[in-house]
Amino acid sequence: MLLAGDVGELFADIEWALRTLSSRFSVVVWAPGNHELWTHPEDPVQARGEERYRLLVELCRSLGVVTPEDPYLVWDGPEGAVTIAPLFILYDYSFLPGGVLTKEQGLALAYGTGVVCRDEMLLHPDPYPSREAWCHDRIAAAERRLAERDPALPVIFVNHYPLIREPTNVLWYPEFAQWCGTTRTHDWHVRFNATTVVYGHLHIPRVTWQDGVRFVEVSIGYPREWRHRSALPGVPRPGVPRQILPMPVAEVQVPAGGRR
Ligand SMILES: [Fe+2]
Repeated sequence: MLLAGDVGELFADIEWALRTLSSRFSVVVWAPGNHELWTHPEDPVQARGEERYRLLVELCRSLGVVTPEDPYLVWDGPEGAVTIAPLFILYDYSFLPGGVLTKEQGLALAYGTGVVCRDEMLLHPDPYPSREAWCHDRIAAAERRLAERDPALPVIFVNHYPLIREPTNVLWYPEFAQWCGTTRTHDWHVRFNATTVVYGHLHIPRVTWQDGVRFVEVSIGYPREWRHRSALPGVPRPGVPRQILPMPVAEVQVPAGGRR
């Protein structure tokens, strides 16, 4: 079971969700979402930033849940062995809205339109000076880890954000893309020989292809969103896990614009 983040906000809720899932699946892999990293005013656990992340990693380890800090697993399925690489990459505001050139301009535009992610109030980067500094440190750490993997095996990335900009192009509020990733990972799916990138965050469950690599948005979303989703072809009912490997036949047949 691959979890692409945002399983909860309060520490006790996250623990309940991970404990429940780890009792029902033999292996659970978790990558943090922005909601787990919030220091919510109602949460008795008031740790911020890196300290909160480390507490979440400790929680996962106590439950046997695999995190981005653990050795990568190799999944040996009928299509061959693949490395499962959960990532914690965050974002650095480089997915700029159209017409702006800097992070400051992008944020000014967002505040002007009222489309501002609550991360600005609740996701603290401590001890880093900024969320983008934390993001860049995470990128460097992940690159070191990925360099040590078996290069002969393809990779399944599990990251809260899509690693590339393209999936954010259909956001209803384009200003929100600033909180959805970093341009610094734009080639990781090719560079690290990914077979699939599993991500969430956008609440737009779908499969897209980029450079012959499948990108699967697996978010369950909020109940208020489910009514609209039922009309989308190929999107399973809420709560039904998406199948990543073996690759579902229907998904193999739709590599829009990609090689295979
Ligand atoms: Fe999210």
